[in-house]
Amino acid sequence: MRYLSPALNVMVAAARKAGRALIRDFGELENLQISKKGPADFVSNADQRTERVLIEELTKARPGYRFLVEEGGAIAGPDKSHRFIIDPIDGTTNFLHGVPHFAISIALERDGQIVSALVFNPVTDDLFVAEKGQGAYHNERRLKVAARTNLAEILVASGAPFMGKDGRDEFLKELDAICAATAGMRRFGSAALDLAWVAAGRFDAFWERDLKPWDIAAGILLVREAHGMVSDMDGRDRMLDTGDILAANDSLHKPLLDLLRGKKN
Ligand code: IPD
Ligand code: CA
Ligand code: CA
Repeated sequence: MRYLSPALNVMVAAARKAGRALIRDFGELENLQISKKGPADFVSNADQRTERVLIEELTKARPGYRFLVEEGGAIAGPDKSHRFIIDPIDGTTNFLHGVPHFAISIALERDGQIVSALVFNPVTDDLFVAEKGQGAYHNERRLKVAARTNLAEILVASGAPFMGKDGRDEFLKELDAICAATAGMRRFGSAALDLAWVAAGRFDAFWERDLKPWDIAAGILLVREAHGMVSDMDGRDRMLDTGDILAANDSLHKPLLDLLRGKKN
């Protein structure tokens, strides 16, 4: 991206700083103290420290902005227009298992609209950014969603409910429908990167239910700025409220929505 807005520059600088420490942690996984947040939902020192660094850096550059962050929840501020939505590590289970597929996800909302987005995998140095009306980029490359329209040729990503999460029956039905109609399905363990990869045309589509705003806020703008379509599973623009999401190109979006909802095409 030739020109980053000042806000996106600030987000990139914060993510790169937090990312450097995360790379060190990733290399020293065995020494990390890990505490349990709930069944199959671990939170590590790295998660908390990354979040702290991001909040510190962003607050220095943008004092007064509010935050919605995974570990700390909602953080108030006097600026009622702006809010950062942050997942310090999306793909924590991968991180803890030494799988280098996780990302820092930062979205900036202005008056309820996501205007800047960043998804950054510090290990692979893959930086995905988008700005409303300015396109989406992977490092220096402009992104466009894949053009495939034939269901039989598409690769679809998702997330499977893990222990303690509801919705397994529904997911298995959806998975069955997708497996029967498409070239394949992948579950890589980071919703933020799944969406970035849809924006990059690697995956043709991504769907998942019951996600949190910090999992998807940045990815939504990446896909939209790469000319993709994003909705919840009722076709509405309410992904941050419902936690359900389907992203694809505009030809595939409706057939996939029907397929996932059990309607015949
Ligand atoms: C998780 C990842 C995963 C998705 C889970 C999320 P976390 O976030 O995005 O792909 O399937 O539902 O909770 O816990 O690694 O930040
Ligand atoms: Ca997450
Ligand atoms: Ca996380």
